[in-house]
Amino acid sequence: MKVFMSEAVSTGKPLIDVLTGKVPSRRPLWLMRQAGRYLPEYRNVRAKAGSFLKLCDTSKLACEVTMQPLRRYDLDAAIVFADILLVARALGSDLAFKDNEGPILSPVRSPAEFCRLKGRMDLGSVGAVFDTISLVKQKLEDHQVLIGFCGAPWTVASYMIEGIAAHERVRARKVALQKPPWFTELMDRLIESSIEYLAGQVEAGADAVQIFDSWAGDLPELLFDELVFEPVRRIVEGLSKRVGTVPVIGFARGIGAAHLQFATKCNVNAISVEQSVPLEWLRNEVIAKVAIQGNLDPLVLVAGGDLLRRAVGRITSSLPAHSHIFNLGHGVRQETPPGHVAELIAAVRQADGASIG
Ligand code: CP3
Repeated sequence: MKVFMSEAVSTGKPLIDVLTGKVPSRRPLWLMRQAGRYLPEYRNVRAKAGSFLKLCDTSKLACEVTMQPLRRYDLDAAIVFADILLVARALGSDLAFKDNEGPILSPVRSPAEFCRLKGRMDLGSVGAVFDTISLVKQKLEDHQVLIGFCGAPWTVASYMIEGIAAHERVRARKVALQKPPWFTELMDRLIESSIEYLAGQVEAGADAVQIFDSWAGDLPELLFDELVFEPVRRIVEGLSKRVGTVPVIGFARGIGAAHLQFATKCNVNAISVEQSVPLEWLRNEVIAKVAIQGNLDPLVLVAGGDLLRRAVGRITSSLPAHSHIFNLGHGVRQETPPGHVAELIAAVRQADGASIG
């Protein structure tokens, strides 16, 4: 590994260094959905498990698929193999994943349906996730970090209301605008559950956590404070009260210039940003205040070749390695050729080697 500055007080883990304001030995790199269907070895294990949920619930197999991308590629982090919707299941929603259709949940759209949920999350139902974390932790190299995660309350609520991976999520968005009392209670319950769930993951060995608010951009700006910033702020605060300081990456996808407010209001160590966020704005207005993760277009990774190398060059030359975690703007797509991931990593390392010479 190349050393950027001689006074580096590195922890030896580049991702933790960037999240805690230390100088990393190199630009950390991992990819959202780095484990998944684009890898043939994942498809094998998934077939053996029988279903996606069985895979999440069987720690030995979940550990195996978590580790698969790290065997192929030089990555700085593993992310525990699980799903944000396990919290909905732990609150009493029936959850199933149908092949090529995505999740199906018992919808929560009325006070009566809300009342059928559990008052508290059943932590036993996510016990396998904690076990997976303990297993993965033993397999990592010294410079690698284990990331735990949960969905942000709005995104999980949105799936619980829709009951499916709905196209424009109009039903959930209308509920957010009308704000019936049960919706406020559901958000509170998801905040409390997320704190418990993340605390369990940290106690099991997660070194950092990411909070995915994939549908934050569905909301009008007027509601960001109440339904995005405040819930995530409460989770970050609650988590640190439960387990002490642990680095948090927040991903409020699609909120435009409000990413900056999200960072300051929620007290996260880094913000993950989608590919539509301009690099120039990130460099000039954001990176001095908070570390940035992102934001290569997952379709550029699918395309590969010269376009991929140029896109990597633009990101690495815009964002300094000591405050940037290289990642995609959203998850790795199923049709991604695995060889392109190796090309991506080589391009990042080469770009940094060239610029820090
Ligand atoms: O490698 C990793 O990043 C860790 C695993 C991970 C999964 N889901 C595995 C998964 C993570 C971090 C998630 C987060 C997640 N899950 C999010 C937030 C990130 C995002 O994509 O916006 C969301 C919204 C979900 C909910 C979810 N899970 C949907 C909508 C779907 C169906 C769509 C799809 O890609 O199939 C899933 C299924 C899912 N989660 C798969 C994987 C690998 C595919 C399941 C399979 O093997 O069939």
